[in-house]
Amino acid sequence: MSPKEYLRTYYSDDPSFDYEEGFHLNWWQHCYDTSKPQGSMLVIGGGPVISSIITASKYVDSIDFTDFNNECLAEVKQWVEGEGHNWDFYVKKALELETQPTDTCGIEARTKLIKNKINNITQLDILQPHIEKEYNVVDAHFVLDCISDSKDIFLQSLQNACNFLKENGIFQGAFLNRTNGWLSGNNFYKSIPLTEDELDKCFSDLGFKILKSASISLKEDSRTGGYIFVKAIRAS
Ligand SMILES: C[S@@+](CC[C@H](N)C(=O)[O-])C[C@H]1O[C@@H](n2cnc3c(N)ncnc32)[C@H](O)[C@@H]1O
Repeated sequence: MSPKEYLRTYYSDDPSFDYEEGFHLNWWQHCYDTSKPQGSMLVIGGGPVISSIITASKYVDSIDFTDFNNECLAEVKQWVEGEGHNWDFYVKKALELETQPTDTCGIEARTKLIKNKINNITQLDILQPHIEKEYNVVDAHFVLDCISDSKDIFLQSLQNACNFLKENGIFQGAFLNRTNGWLSGNNFYKSIPLTEDELDKCFSDLGFKILKSASISLKEDSRTGGYIFVKAIRAS
């Protein structure tokens, strides 16, 4: 997947947010401003995208940002170094949802905070089981179902991701809603179609309790079909 093409498809630097983009930011703002998680955070399959850590960066102490694709990681590194994709409109929108000042100073301050909280940007293959460290928060949005060829592989990747969590850690996940593929530019990638009920069962089987979920249902003209967001806690 080309990071530039992916960004062009889903994360334009156009300030007019569509309904889906607004919904995503609203979800993360609500989740993180409600649970105010502390400690460490792992982003799995983050791609070239930093939108899910804008509000989280206020609370967690450090963020390990990972993906399997080194080009995606290079794009995020470029942004940290002051180049790369322009995320200012996303930061501004997140600040607006948090009812924080959205002027240039506010945007610069939050951008600096996010960059300071990023501890490292490294490669991680979530299809391989390995736990080098445990985290208070694990974020995997539009990854596990989007990289799995079968339900069994999806379940294994979900387990691998959940294994990174400490007891009482929070899993922030997003999945495609009843969708068997997604586009980046004109390239089609397979995904595993999932429903809210199936996800409930998957999390429950892994010993997690879903604290909150939200979904956008299928839209015929959508690029992906819809989304299911889940915030779950690792039960003690
Ligand atoms: C649909 S994109 C999601 C990107 C971003 N999280 C977002 O919400 O827009 C899927 C991401 O999974 C990454 N990926 C593919 N295979 C992976 C693997 N085995 N382990 C971890 N990440 C992987 C891709 O490089 C890509 O960045």
